[in-house]
Amino acid sequence: MRVLILGGDGYLGWPTAMALSAKGHDVFVVDNYLRRNIALKTRSEALMPNPNLHERAEIWKALSGYSISVEIADCSDYRVLSQVFREFQPDTVIHYAEQPSAPYSMISFDTARETLNNNLNVTFNVIWAVLKHCPDCHIIKLGTMGEYGTPNIDIEEGWLEIEHKSRRDTFLYPRQAGSLYHTTKVLDTDLLWFYVRTYGLKATDLMQGPVYGLSTDECEQDERLLPNFHYDDIFGTVVNRFLVQAAANVPLTVYGKGGQTRGYLNLKDTLQCVELAMNNPIEHGELRILNQFTEQFTVSELAEKVKQAGNQVGLNVQIDSIKNPRKEAEAHYYNAHHSGLIELGLKPHYMSEEVLVQMLEQVNKYKYKIDSQKIMPRVRW
Ligand SMILES: NC(=O)c1ccc[n+]([C@@H]2O[C@H](COP(=O)([O-])OP(=O)(O)OC[C@H]3O[C@@H](n4cnc5c(N)ncnc54)[C@H](O)[C@@H]3O)[C@@H](O)[C@H]2O)c1
Repeated sequence: MRVLILGGDGYLGWPTAMALSAKGHDVFVVDNYLRRNIALKTRSEALMPNPNLHERAEIWKALSGYSISVEIADCSDYRVLSQVFREFQPDTVIHYAEQPSAPYSMISFDTARETLNNNLNVTFNVIWAVLKHCPDCHIIKLGTMGEYGTPNIDIEEGWLEIEHKSRRDTFLYPRQAGSLYHTTKVLDTDLLWFYVRTYGLKATDLMQGPVYGLSTDECEQDERLLPNFHYDDIFGTVVNRFLVQAAANVPLTVYGKGGQTRGYLNLKDTLQCVELAMNNPIEHGELRILNQFTEQFTVSELAEKVKQAGNQVGLNVQIDSIKNPRKEAEAHYYNAHHSGLIELGLKPHYMSEEVLVQMLEQVNKYKYKIDSQKIMPRVRW
């Protein structure tokens, strides 16, 4: 297949590009280094070095023989994106190109505006470029489980059947996001649904939970091919922050009561899920929504898991609770359904002690670069 990956320099984009090129697909990646630039501005640089996209594509080609075409361009610029679609004619576009940090989106008017403009414009441009240049192209879009929030009822897979005054209909499951970033994902889904039902596009919206892990078959071949690993309060996910705190010998900082429950998945499983979505086509006029995670944990359970992995490698890990910088429920009901991807063939890689120990060992190699102050929350809402 001809696969266009938007956001190909990112944590998910780069491993996806290598994995799909290794399967023989014709892969084209676009990125404008938005994340690298925000990381520089906010002192949130990744722990491990990541060569730029052209360099990584060259390293990968030298190692594997597979080519990945690279373009450094802004997908929120319609003329640029439109030209890429017109010339490359993708069978599938995988849209990762968004500003993905909730705290960054909550710093100020400017960062909120930047997040809103960037994320909505890229999605809108993708929709129009597909409509204009390749209406058969399957749009695979990364959404987030955060779109649903933490409702006091089971979370269904995208849709909810409602009976009202003895009549029934099916609607998008109600969404109530906890940050402006997550709200842009809700708006993305609405845009997709409007254009799918009006013009018959084909789209899969993957409601993904937080991803962890650094290891994939391709990334393991050369340290320079590792995806980005952020551990600060802006880009670092809770798993990364805890692992780095464990390695740095400072207490793991649980926000508030630690009962915040979310669905997590291994990076290897993101790659599987995206490939499964790609290889199981849908009809024109269908918006397929799949909840993309494999197991759910509270923040306190995650802290315990990291503590146990740390003890395994001789660290003495302590856990602290700090004031929650976010407005979110700290103890709540959470039961999210996620059978769609399993039915398509997903074989989960769970968060075992071995996986966490492997990540800790990788972090430990760069221990000298850790600035544990960067992990403490700088943004509150
Ligand atoms: N990583 C996770 O845990 C997670 C969980 C749920 C959803 N997601 C979603 O998955 C997608 C990828 O996330 P990620 O963790 O790889 O983030 P990332 O920031 O590492 O990757 C996103 C990439 O998109 C690029 N980008 C952003 N705007 C762009 C634009 N206008 N033009 C060109 N490139 C642009 C960035 O420079 C970056 O390299 C995002 O949409 C994110 O919201 C990620």
